[in-house]
Amino acid sequence: MASKHIPVLIDQIIDYLQPAEGQKFIDCTLGAGGYTLALKKKAGEQSLIMAIDQDEKAISEFQEVIKEKSLKNIFLINGSFGKLKNLIIGRFGRKIEFNGIVFDLGLSSDQLNDRERGFSFQDGRPLDMAFSHKEEGKTQEIVNHYKEQELLTIIRNFGEERYAARIAKKIVEERKKQNIKTTGKLKSIIEDSVPYSRHQKIHPATKTFQALRIATNEELSNLQKALPQAIDLLVPTGKVAVVSYHSLEDRIVKNFFRQEAKNCICPPEAWQCQCGHKAKVKVITKKVVTPTAKEKQANPRSRSAKLRVAEKI
Ligand SMILES: C[S@@+](CC[C@H](N)C(=O)[O-])C[C@H]1O[C@@H](n2cnc3c(N)ncnc32)[C@H](O)[C@@H]1O
Repeated sequence: MASKHIPVLIDQIIDYLQPAEGQKFIDCTLGAGGYTLALKKKAGEQSLIMAIDQDEKAISEFQEVIKEKSLKNIFLINGSFGKLKNLIIGRFGRKIEFNGIVFDLGLSSDQLNDRERGFSFQDGRPLDMAFSHKEEGKTQEIVNHYKEQELLTIIRNFGEERYAARIAKKIVEERKKQNIKTTGKLKSIIEDSVPYSRHQKIHPATKTFQALRIATNEELSNLQKALPQAIDLLVPTGKVAVVSYHSLEDRIVKNFFRQEAKNCICPPEAWQCQCGHKAKVKVITKKVVTPTAKEKQANPRSRSAKLRVAEKI
């Protein structure tokens, strides 16, 4: 299937990473391969790119692209970047270091448009928001079996949805009658639980769907686990670049980079350093980088994108 995904902030990523001939990179979120291809183009045939994705389909489709384009030295790994170091060590039998590591978080347009999955709330799709087949069934498990309070917490914390309590209550009421199995059913339950006008800019189900996707794939905890591993896998002066699409992810990246750029992380009231923490990175995007108006217009999906880059000391 030809990919419809347009890579976001790709020129800025290349500008910050400055890939040089023969260098090594990890693309932690292969998707349709936009970043992998751009890195390969810049760093040449001898460069090594490890491209990871949790989604088996993304991996098999890019395998075809590699064949078609006769690309050299791109190695694909199916797995979660939450286990980044193990994936790399598993592949090489030892830890090797990279010049750059990129993350382009969330989901691709191809996943969103896939009729066999339930990322979009188009009617009649199975309620399945898992990136990997290994997690199949997880979204329905959450919606049909988690306690009301757990549902409420997911929808409020990961969706930042002000009507989380009403939505969780209605889900629990409805699932008593019949298990909720499709995106269309969940969408109509949400429409029935919140004030909703067809003229609203964003559909009232948007935040709940985002929350369930984040919970299904444990997206925030995987990001938290991956960032220190990425720093550890970089050569000195190597760079880690992260593109995120909502405030929760961006906050994790911002706070992690800030903390790792400090020589001491003791509480302000400590009269002398007791943590022994040493700065591991310097943040090279002083201000968060966002797409140009031109990119936002050409690719509306890029609207909420935020890029932060740190360089290993
Ligand atoms: C926004 S897309 C990447 C698009 C890619 N940069 C491109 O230009 O084609 C994000 C991808 O990351 C994958 N993904 C999300 N969480 C992941 C994780 N924890 N480990 C590995 N892949 C993950 C998704 O399956 C999806 O294919």
